[in-house]
Amino acid sequence: MKFDEVNETCNKLLDTIGNYFVGERLLLQKVLAAALANGHVLFEDNPGLGKTLLAKAFAKATGCDYKRIQFTPDLMPADIVGTKVWKSEKETLTLEKGPVFTHILLADEINRSPPKVQSALLECMAERQVTIEGETHKLESPFLVLATQNPIEMEGTYPLPEAQMDRFLIKLSTGYVRTLELEAEILKRRAGWRRDDPVDLIPSVTNNQSFQALQETIEKDVYVDEQIFTYISKIVRATRENSYVEVGSSPRGGLSLSKITKANAAINGRDYVVPDDVKLYAKDVLTHRIMLRMEYAFEKNITSAKIVEDILSKTEVPTQVTRR
Ligand SMILES: Nc1ncnc2c1ncn2[C@@H]1O[C@H](COP(=O)(O)OP(=O)(O)O)[C@@H](O)[C@H]1O
Ligand SMILES: [Mg+2]
Repeated sequence: MKFDEVNETCNKLLDTIGNYFVGERLLLQKVLAAALANGHVLFEDNPGLGKTLLAKAFAKATGCDYKRIQFTPDLMPADIVGTKVWKSEKETLTLEKGPVFTHILLADEINRSPPKVQSALLECMAERQVTIEGETHKLESPFLVLATQNPIEMEGTYPLPEAQMDRFLIKLSTGYVRTLELEAEILKRRAGWRRDDPVDLIPSVTNNQSFQALQETIEKDVYVDEQIFTYISKIVRATRENSYVEVGSSPRGGLSLSKITKANAAINGRDYVVPDDVKLYAKDVLTHRIMLRMEYAFEKNITSAKIVEDILSKTEVPTQVTRR
């Protein structure tokens, strides 16, 4: 794929999703950037804010195969990865593949299942492979998890294990729409669908192959100056040196930030990363990787998000970034 086509295709994808999901284009852009960087996305927000709709609309617009798992308290790991079943007519054990064998997996209300079940997703997300009864199977490419969760304070939820959080490239919140007009727009759109779920109405802009071609072009063609790497590294290290923080960002946090900034540059038609790309994503990429010290965990004015903002305001921004 030519680099010029990337920007055009991205705009079409964003327009298409925006025809169904009412919200800020920047939010959609962030989801797309994460997916183009081959990263998993976690949406966290109260029920009814359009998380499931956004995940479905995104999957449908990309034209990739997708499957959905509704996480419940009694879900089993085999319901996610699959299992071997005895076929009496063939007298053999055959693999019944679980929903992870797809391109985009919608993991809905992921924190309603206990950690053991959430962990079944762990190997899939990090290794892009799955082991079922001793046999390892490669997952499809691309393989992206779009997960949703309710805020952890809500009843009947199990917080995701730390190791699992780190595997999401980005954590986003859909939030309420800003204005009265947009609130009414949600109602108008809904009336136009004449059904609850508009997924069948949404056209596909790309497909498995062309989406992967987008990812590969970005990986290959977007240039990152040495100073950008230094800038990201400074930010990531500062999360570990902060006195409120028990565990700071892993190197995976820094890698994630550098990957997503490349995708963001390409969405904006640039084949080089600028410091503003880093600033735009640092909070969404790093906040969920930071664990506060116990004594600050419940203090309202000390949050991981504020710590990242503070780090950004204090970290020297490179001024002489080259374009290649
Ligand atoms: N931002 C939005 N844009 C369009 N429709 C929305 C939006 N937020 C909520 N809705 C409507 O509310 C319904 C519930 O949204 P849903 O995606 O199921 O919420 P969640 O998964 O966050 O609980 C959707 O089917 C849609 O009709
Ligand atoms: Mg939902």
